[in-house]
Amino acid sequence: MSDSESDSRRRFLAGAAALAPVMAVAGVAAVACAQTQGPRANGKVALVTGSSRGIGAATAKRLARDGFAVAVNCVKNRELASAVVDEIKAAGGRAIWVQADVSEADAVRRLFDETERAFGGIDVVVSNAGVMRLAPFHAMSDSDFARMLDVNQKGSFFVLREGARRVRSGGRIIALSSSITQLRTGTYGAYAATKSAQEIFANVLARELEGRQISVNAIAPGVVNTTLFTDGKTAEQIASFVQRTPHKRLGEPSDIANVISALCGDDCGWVNGQTIFVNGGIV
Ligand SMILES: NC(=O)c1ccc[n+]([C@@H]2O[C@H](COP(=O)([O-])OP(=O)(O)OC[C@H]3O[C@@H](n4cnc5c(N)ncnc54)[C@H](OP(=O)(O)O)[C@@H]3O)[C@@H](O)[C@H]2O)c1
Repeated sequence: MSDSESDSRRRFLAGAAALAPVMAVAGVAAVACAQTQGPRANGKVALVTGSSRGIGAATAKRLARDGFAVAVNCVKNRELASAVVDEIKAAGGRAIWVQADVSEADAVRRLFDETERAFGGIDVVVSNAGVMRLAPFHAMSDSDFARMLDVNQKGSFFVLREGARRVRSGGRIIALSSSITQLRTGTYGAYAATKSAQEIFANVLARELEGRQISVNAIAPGVVNTTLFTDGKTAEQIASFVQRTPHKRLGEPSDIANVISALCGDDCGWVNGQTIFVNGGIV
């Protein structure tokens, strides 16, 4: 090595040694940043009805991770809705929760008003709130049948109607149907009918919103591990659904949230007016 070469090598090593603590600190700072910065805001706003637990909560958290500011909604479990918001905020996201019974048109308008007031507009609406009461036709009570119509059918209509009025250009509207519309298992008749309405709602609304670049779809989950599905069922009844599913497990709320997230992304705007079955192959 010549004198000038060894000089420049000495200078390089000395410089590198001097920079090492700085680079180490910068590295630590970058890691700390990645840990505390949370999701990168995409400037968009999502409203997910029935998101205090189950599929709705998983969807709210997933969309928050995707960068959406999220409005979480419940009808009675305020502490659960508040916990979903806390979790989103702790991860660096933006969220509010609003108690509103979707079966009441005024409450739905207030839910949208409060979301717009908090975040300045709405880009995504997920009509997810739902209830399920099972009984054969001869034993279905008036009140259980009425509640399913009120929440699943009338309530989702109110949410989609408000979405049609307010979702910004380029947005998404998603209604939760169910694969039971195809399975047609006994005792599910009334519930399945209220869920099949979502597929009609989504398909017709997609056409009505022509020119606004808003895609409207229905998602039809199979059996998902939430209290809506498991409550009131024996282990054997649950196992029989698992047996009929090629993947031999229940769906998890995240299995559904992942697909909703994809539909809300920039790459899926061309999916419009469809019902997407997300069920591990049970149908
Ligand atoms: N789980 C499944 O196997 C399955 C399969 C296919 C389709 N789905 C559909 O997926 C959606 C979510 O189901 P899930 O299993 O996640 O249900 P879940 O765990 O029982 O959660 C239901 C959510 O809806 C809310 N809700 C109920 N009635 C409401 C009302 N009147 N107004 C506002 N919010 C209301 C609940 O709020 P509170 O906590 O305040 O009660 C809760 O956040 C439903 O539409 C369901 O029909 C579920």
